Amino acid sequence: MPTPSASTDDSLPECALRAAVTALGVDWQQRPLQPEPGLAALLEQPALNEGEKATVVQALGAGLIDVCLAHGYHSMDLVVLHPDTPGLQEALARFDLPHTHADDEVRYIVDGAGLFGFFDAQGREHSVRVGPGDYLRVPAGAEHRFTLTSARRIKALRLFSNTAGWVAQYTQRPAGPMEILE
Ligand code: LAC
Ligand code: NI
Repeated sequence: MPTPSASTDDSLPECALRAAVTALGVDWQQRPLQPEPGLAALLEQPALNEGEKATVVQALGAGLIDVCLAHGYHSMDLVVLHPDTPGLQEALARFDLPHTHADDEVRYIVDGAGLFGFFDAQGREHSVRVGPGDYLRVPAGAEHRFTLTSARRIKALRLFSNTAGWVAQYTQRPAGPMEILE
């Protein structure tokens, strides 16, 4: 067991973590992912071209229609990060800084893994490791950050109500780099 640090609660049982992030307005669900073999083969590739990304969005986006209708999201894309993604280091350095958005941040993880950190009003960070089948809706204004695991690889559907407004507002909270998990 690693020694729990003062700023995270990842030693708490999962139900306590769920309660903590739910209290911050974060919707964290498991939506089972059962890709047919052709789609599974695509998801296993580290990189995808634009046509392959569109195939994944078409195949898996239908499973998020309820979320689109409930919250008014009307565009969807697939973000793909892997060790050879140009600018990955710089992108990770930005994601690691605590920030908010004016719109919801909605992600459905379809491959790979990552770590989200959510900050509560007391400044405690609640860390959620995500992998295939995890769905997260981070409401507008909720302070968070993100990193990849040591495999440095993820594919996630992203849902937007307004892509033009998709910018990060950094909160300037002092926080050390996120822990990189296996
Ligand atoms: C974002 C995630 C990484 O803002 O928080 O894209
Ligand atoms: Ni964000």
